[in-house]
Amino acid sequence: MQTVQRQSISDQLRHRFDTAKSVLVLTGAGVSAESGVPTFRGGGNTAVWKGMPFDVISSAKMVDRDLPAVWEWFDYRRTLLQPLEPNAAHREIARWEKRFQQFILVTQNIDGLHQKAGSKSVIELHGNISRARCVECHARYEILAGESRPEQCAGCGNWLRPDVVLFGEILPPGAFELAAKSAQKCELCIVVGTSGIVYPAASLPEIAKAAGAYLCEVNPERTALSGLFDEVLTGKAGEVLPMIASAPDSTNTHS
Ligand code: APR
Repeated sequence: MQTVQRQSISDQLRHRFDTAKSVLVLTGAGVSAESGVPTFRGGGNTAVWKGMPFDVISSAKMVDRDLPAVWEWFDYRRTLLQPLEPNAAHREIARWEKRFQQFILVTQNIDGLHQKAGSKSVIELHGNISRARCVECHARYEILAGESRPEQCAGCGNWLRPDVVLFGEILPPGAFELAAKSAQKCELCIVVGTSGIVYPAASLPEIAKAAGAYLCEVNPERTALSGLFDEVLTGKAGEVLPMIASAPDSTNTHS
């Protein structure tokens, strides 16, 4: 698999990166892989927890059937994720936020690494692993690193569950709608580190394409969406994203 070189970033992408006023970036687990976050798929295998495929333990059914088991899985993932640091890809995307008039970052990741890298406007389509939510009144609670996790809602006394979108659940109200609206307006859409099989997130590049945006994919492997893209950059996000920004002629700074 030929990884991308600086010179193979097309003039078209450079031009779009230089002139675009409105840019949408969609990220998946792959953008955090170089920070040590295990991806769910890619590389031919899927995550398993105590013999249960992750999409079983991470399901709405499991919350009803065995909430303590769900917490055990998320507590394990959270202790894995919270100490991790953003990588060059997260930092580059955080820089882009200041570069474009309209910049929207939509992530499927629940690891909070974009925010840790300095990204301010992040649409978290699938929630965040460092938050808990009341099963009844939906009040949200931060779960701070090294501190015990709150069990019950201080407001109504009901149990708290992970504030993460589980399989079989719909996305948080408004999150996808906001992302879709931005996809309809963007001139450049860059999709980084997602296998492109989980909807509705995977429909965002399709919406952007239908609205005339230039589409670029960054992934070391071909994905279910690769055929949709104007440009596929094969490589690791932490290596490729800085290349896009530093390609010759990129002088687009609106500040
Ligand atoms: N840079 C860029 N992409 C990478 C890297 C890297 N360093 N390493 C791996 N990848 C790619 C893989 O090739 C794969 O295509 O990242 C992708 C990760 O795919 P998934 O594991 O399927 O993750 P994602 O697409 O984010 O999953 C979507 O599914 O499991 C649910 O809710 C969960 O948000 C998740 C959703």
